[in-house]
Amino acid sequence: MHQPSCGVYYSKELGDFDEFTQDNNDVMLKNIADDLRSCLPPEAVLCSEQLALQKIRQQPEPTVHVDAFLYDEDFIDSLCEEGKMSRNYCTVCGSHQTAPLGFISHSFSLMELKFLFHQVLPDLSGKVLVDIGSRLGTVLYGGYLYSSAAQLCGVELNGEFCQLQEMIIKKYEFSDRIKVLHADVCTQGPLLQSADVIVMNNVFEYFLTEAEQARYADLQLSCWVEEIPLNLDVCQQSETDREALEQIHLYKVL
Ligand SMILES: C[S@@+](CC[C@H](N)C(=O)[O-])C[C@H]1O[C@@H](n2cnc3c(N)ncnc32)[C@H](O)[C@@H]1O
Repeated sequence: MHQPSCGVYYSKELGDFDEFTQDNNDVMLKNIADDLRSCLPPEAVLCSEQLALQKIRQQPEPTVHVDAFLYDEDFIDSLCEEGKMSRNYCTVCGSHQTAPLGFISHSFSLMELKFLFHQVLPDLSGKVLVDIGSRLGTVLYGGYLYSSAAQLCGVELNGEFCQLQEMIIKKYEFSDRIKVLHADVCTQGPLLQSADVIVMNNVFEYFLTEAEQARYADLQLSCWVEEIPLNLDVCQQSETDREALEQIHLYKVL
């Protein structure tokens, strides 16, 4: 599963890393995925996401949008076996020459969420995490279940995704620690300044024009952030999982 790179930023006040496992929480996240799947089209992309839809058309090779939180590898395998999905496309119509399809996910998978909260981030007790572009809310639910963060705040531009997140927050009674703001993150300076951790999973690459991306990237990053190396050997994963985890980067704000 292809996951474009993403960054996680945390302030230097945070301490040592924490590790724990919670099987019940995995089950709860899978139940949330079931609920969300029943509310969304198979690609989990909405008509209201015009910029994202334009991006689909710009992909050089045939690409499918498969949300990694809603559809894990086993789920995709079973859909392929039932003939409802394919990992390949025919390069010459009618022939047996095929090539692998590109897969794009707009959410973290369960495996990535566990890596993020169990291995990447330190103990978040009393801390505020902001997810820029919270979409289905996966980072917020993962943070609720896998961390002790005091507040998890999602900022999401798309109102339909905000409604879906509110539905899950209400159903699973997450409102004591999760808030979702329907807003453009560019208007949320004070919120970002108050955050201890900021998660950005592919928020700009797929939703801004190249000129807009260049404007945001025109910063001397090394002056204000330092990349913290991550140990990918701490958890057992397949080659595909490892490739996904390699796309996760942690930066400490100096
Ligand atoms: C790739 S998804 C991130 C999903 C989620 N954070 C996760 O990791 O599972 C990017 C989201 O950012 C939202 N987005 C794009 N530009 C935004 C902006 N300026 N302000 C707030 N949200 C934005 C999009 O609507 C989309 O839902």
